Amino acid sequence: MLIIRTKAELRAMTQDWRRAGESIGVVPTMGALHAGHLSLVDRACAENDRVIVTLFVNPKQFNNPEDLAKYPRTEDSDAEKLTPYGADILYVPDGAQMYPEGFATTVSVTGVSEGLCGGARPGHFDGVATVVTKLFLQTDADRAYFGEKDYQQLQVVTRLAEDLDLKTEIVGCPTIREEDGLAMSSRNLRLAKGPREIAPVIAQVLDDAARVISRGGQVAQALDNARAALLSAGFDTIDYLELRSDPDLKLMTRADRPGRLFLAAWLDGVRLIDNVPVAGLASVPTPEDHPLEPA
Ligand code: PAJ
Repeated sequence: MLIIRTKAELRAMTQDWRRAGESIGVVPTMGALHAGHLSLVDRACAENDRVIVTLFVNPKQFNNPEDLAKYPRTEDSDAEKLTPYGADILYVPDGAQMYPEGFATTVSVTGVSEGLCGGARPGHFDGVATVVTKLFLQTDADRAYFGEKDYQQLQVVTRLAEDLDLKTEIVGCPTIREEDGLAMSSRNLRLAKGPREIAPVIAQVLDDAARVISRGGQVAQALDNARAALLSAGFDTIDYLELRSDPDLKLMTRADRPGRLFLAAWLDGVRLIDNVPVAGLASVPTPEDHPLEPA
């Protein structure tokens, strides 16, 4: 696997591949790789002739400078973890490659970026949309792989690729979990031992609520019970716990179509997110069930 740091060198490689008629897959990451990231790389390697993994801790998507400063930077061990997978390039641009002096463009997606993490982290999805658009163009990718762990991000990226007529097909991949159910995340390492033992409650509570709702239980009641269970397990605050439609992410008060439960909660000073699918009930929706949608 080659480590490449400039757009020019990357372009030279992708042009050679194109001339040979080879397909290109990209896996955008911010590094600190774990089995969740590696599952995307594995899939990309299975589906493309050539694979580029990108590693760039994107300052534009952090609304909290402390969070950006604390983000782990582990390029050497990331490169080592990738070795067995057969990716061709680890692309590690620096800030000047991505955002040179005078950079003034923002890609902004409305609708699916609103609420959930978009509400809790203003500007976050503009930063994500801008950087992934650049990465798709720089890598000339046919396919790009994203985790369902960040489901709203997956929908934002899918929307922008379609709206901007990018040739890159967006491929969503399932969330990889620890044995106890906790969704893998580089943030999990920040949890002390006690809180780490509490963290899997997220997945249990979401699964329970999804089961209750998909069997016809009241959404508001199921969400109240889930919130109470999280707080009594030791979570400090809940940023959001909502049922949203899939894939347009509209707020739902009844499970009358397929949806997902979305959660962001704080534990031990660490913000954890997760989401699970909720099968829709085969009932007819009524307009008053959708106060946020036009009748
Ligand atoms: P990062 O958090 O490094 O995640 C890179 C990719 O790995 C994302 O598509 C994310 O959804 C996926 N991923 C993370 N944990 C996962 C898990 N447990 N199971 C499956 N996939 C998982 O997301 C970003 O970086 C950035 O926003 C980025 C898209 C690179 C733009 O800067």
